[in-house]
Amino acid sequence: MRLGPTVSARPAAGSGLTTTKTPFIEEARAARLAFIHQPYELYSPDNHATWGQLLERMEGRWRQHASAPFLDGIERLRLSPARIPRLEEVNRFLEPLTGFRAHAVSGYLPSYLFFDCLRRREFPTTVTIRDGATLDYLPEPDIFHDVAGHVPMHTDVAFASTLVRLGECAATAARRAAQIADERERLRRLTSNVRALSRFFWFSIEFGLVREAGALKAYGSGLLSSPGELVHAVEAPEVQRFPFQIEWVVNQLFEIDRYQPILFVIESFDHLYGLVRELEEAIAFGRLDNVAAGEPVVRAEDLRSFLTQGPYAK
Ligand SMILES: [Fe+2]
Repeated sequence: MRLGPTVSARPAAGSGLTTTKTPFIEEARAARLAFIHQPYELYSPDNHATWGQLLERMEGRWRQHASAPFLDGIERLRLSPARIPRLEEVNRFLEPLTGFRAHAVSGYLPSYLFFDCLRRREFPTTVTIRDGATLDYLPEPDIFHDVAGHVPMHTDVAFASTLVRLGECAATAARRAAQIADERERLRRLTSNVRALSRFFWFSIEFGLVREAGALKAYGSGLLSSPGELVHAVEAPEVQRFPFQIEWVVNQLFEIDRYQPILFVIESFDHLYGLVRELEEAIAFGRLDNVAAGEPVVRAEDLRSFLTQGPYAK
């Protein structure tokens, strides 16, 4: 992974900036460029139409099922169905509110780099958009998931502080790992910490529910960017919903390619911030060194990012 000059934009043979079909992104990844610019001129009319369709499909569902800070955020960002937003426009509204900025990336960032961006109030943001023929199917995050699903919550001060603290949790895990002399043990404990952090992130930032005046509302971006799953998460009787408990969440397996059968509910965003403080303490005191094995898989590249790119890299 290196940070460097952005890739030059060239015409993308009619596919626009469609997820998994974009030469611009493939070239950036091949060149190991993580941070890129948003090649706005490459969006096709179909890409803009897909954005508009998604926004229009979600608006009614958001009003019914989204948490209050999310609805405030949507109001403030003024996303238009007419076209995909430019990230600089989004940042013009976002940055004065909480200091967060959306920063374009070419795709998956190794785990430590991702959390470290949050620590610096930068949100790694995908610029491609899903194929309009399969609006509900998401092979990987897209700009609708990142900008319409995540960014509205970043306008909320308590939520933004929670993201920064999650970045601090990753730094704590990196510091602990750097202090363990035995390499096997270092990797074993770090794998457990990263798995715990990923599960916490998944069941809060991506798929979290919150209780507001007695009603269940969604604040997780995975729910808020999926027309089908949002309603399912809040209304389907077969979904198991439990109060958010750290000890449970860090040991709870999840799979990414289906509607989530189990979700966790927080009481408020101050509550969530408190939970992240507890998470950080649990990492610091070695209480998350033996979480349940299983999903998600922790990639070697993720572990390496903690050991070589953390603030305590040797
Ligand atoms: Fe996400």
